[in-house]
Amino acid sequence: MKLLVTGGAGFIGSAVVRHAIAAGHEVVNLDALTYAACLANVEQVATSPLYHFEQADIRDRAQLDRILDTHAPDAIMHLAAESHVDRSIDGPGDFIETNITGTYNLLKAARVYWVAQGRPETFRFHHISTDEVFGSLGETGQFTETTPYDPRSPYSASKAASDHLVRAWHETYALPVVLTNCSNNYGPYHFPEKLVPVVILNALHGNPIPIYGKGENVRDWLYVEDHADALLRVLAQGEIGQSYNIGGENEATNIDLVRMICALMDEMRPDAAPHDQLITFVQDRPGHDLRYAIDPTRISTELGWRPSVTLEEGLRRTVAWYLENEAWWRPLLERQGVGQRLGTSV
Ligand SMILES: NC(=O)c1ccc[n+]([C@@H]2O[C@H](COP(=O)([O-])OP(=O)(O)OC[C@H]3O[C@@H](n4cnc5c(N)ncnc54)[C@H](O)[C@@H]3O)[C@@H](O)[C@H]2O)c1
Repeated sequence: MKLLVTGGAGFIGSAVVRHAIAAGHEVVNLDALTYAACLANVEQVATSPLYHFEQADIRDRAQLDRILDTHAPDAIMHLAAESHVDRSIDGPGDFIETNITGTYNLLKAARVYWVAQGRPETFRFHHISTDEVFGSLGETGQFTETTPYDPRSPYSASKAASDHLVRAWHETYALPVVLTNCSNNYGPYHFPEKLVPVVILNALHGNPIPIYGKGENVRDWLYVEDHADALLRVLAQGEIGQSYNIGGENEATNIDLVRMICALMDEMRPDAAPHDQLITFVQDRPGHDLRYAIDPTRISTELGWRPSVTLEEGLRRTVAWYLENEAWWRPLLERQGVGQRLGTSV
């Protein structure tokens, strides 16, 4: 298959690009190269004859039409987005423009292209979204695909809006879509403004490890390589018009997650142990959702997919990867906003 992957220079998109090429698919990586992008994420496949890159913005309709006409993909996997909740609190505008208007633009371009191709039933528009659209859980319960939407941050509201648009394009125009809503990802190539790499790199540098509030917020951690595998499974076997929740079956509070990373750092960098002495509690994020948890029944029973690694094993691989790949993360620390506390300006 020939896949158009938007956001393929980002964290999850690049994992999808690497996995898709390893599986023998041809890939067109469409990315605007914002602050969150890094072409080194796809370096290992960049010389493959199966790989193509197009620097373009999903808000630019003319570029989208050109790219679709030039490459004639069999499917679109849409991951391009503004993705950092803290940045959405300080500057929601970019999130509205890229996540909502950009997705709307891409849907319009995809529909025109699909109609011009003769409306092939095999075409797919796969929208990659988040479990944050479902809001916040108490101590019990899990999100299913029918949980009502209740987004609570500018980021999750923009993703919820884009999910609704994708469903509308299916119901109204019969565009063959599938959607996925996943939990928090972690793993190699995670941009160093997100919790897991922040903890690893601050521990490595002997800097305070910031924990929002009391660290009681619970997330269901999904290893990014498992996620990429799940996305390709949904693309190939998912039912048109359906959405699939993807979780890691790995719930942990932030404080437990941070302590697990510190324990791994103690093992791999024993000279600086104990790393958990660096833990520092800081002002909470405004509107910080307490708990997200995924009910993975649909994807496991209908598509036979389950995560392959435990949180312990995934974190071990992730910490080892960061310790071995300073040349990747070092330049990213210089990018705008990285290393600063964001998302407190309310
Ligand atoms: N990271 C997570 O834990 C997580 C969890 C659930 C869902 N998601 C969703 O998965 C997708 C990918 O997330 P990620 O963590 O890889 O994000 P990321 O921020 O690492 O990467 C996003 C990529 O999109 C590109 N991009 C941004 N705006 C663009 C535009 N206007 N036009 C073209 N390209 C643009 C960026 O350059 C970047 O390469 C997003 O849609 C996000 O909402 C992420």
